[in-house]
Amino acid sequence: MEVLIQPDETAADELVARLMMDTVRRHPRAVLGLATGRTMEPVYKAMVEAHAQGEVDFAACSTFNLDEYIGLTPDHPASYRTFMNQNLFDHVNIPIERTRLPNGVADDIDRECVAYEAAIVAAGGIDLQLLGIGHDGHIGFNEPLSSLGSRTRSKALTPDTIARNAFAFANEAEVPHRAITMGVGTILDSRWCLMLVKGASKAAILAKAVEGPVTSMVTASALQLHPRCTIVVDEAAATELDGCDYYRWIWENEPEWAPYRSG
Ligand code: F6R
Repeated sequence: MEVLIQPDETAADELVARLMMDTVRRHPRAVLGLATGRTMEPVYKAMVEAHAQGEVDFAACSTFNLDEYIGLTPDHPASYRTFMNQNLFDHVNIPIERTRLPNGVADDIDRECVAYEAAIVAAGGIDLQLLGIGHDGHIGFNEPLSSLGSRTRSKALTPDTIARNAFAFANEAEVPHRAITMGVGTILDSRWCLMLVKGASKAAILAKAVEGPVTSMVTASALQLHPRCTIVVDEAAATELDGCDYYRWIWENEPEWAPYRSG
């Protein structure tokens, strides 16, 4: 696991967008794992702008999103399909039929989850999985006590997650109480996990995830078990990390990051 501390939110967003797009430039047929949430909006905006400038071609990519609310049709304004269409898919050239999210209105949710796992395998697995972190430490919607070996399944959301996500709905009562989410095990199968964490409100949970024990109470801590996990953070999110000096040394000295240091 590497933690790359960036001076501010914009620098963190731009670094993540560049890492995503460089992956696509190197591997045009990349399978991207995508996330929703406010953290990702500027990342997708940067990708859309780069695409408009002709700097990146997504034509051969395919994508799998982490999660979708159960009970929302894809065209519901608060569905994650709508979020992805509005923030990314409508503005770049990824063929829409190769953009996948779980179907939250499937007749048989369990079968949908099995099919989603099978589709990821059939696509050759996920090359790069983009992740945010919830205030309770969730990745995807793997709420506390999710098995660290879990696969795609239906998961009950915590009252805190429901309240935090209510902004996208007319009122809190409309927020679905369950979602289909890739499991922690599904996420750990990705070849590269790239997490973006910004803002002081995420500092405490980031420190637990990165430097605390691996525990199902903070499912992001399972990323410590992943052989290739990069966590991009801004200064505000880094304030509660003990190892900042070392993390800064890595960013400033490791050859892998040299092309990105110059901005
Ligand atoms: C969304 C997802 C979630 C979010 C997390 C942070 O697809 O998987 O884990 O990444 O809830 O959300 P924001 O970015 O809104 O703070």
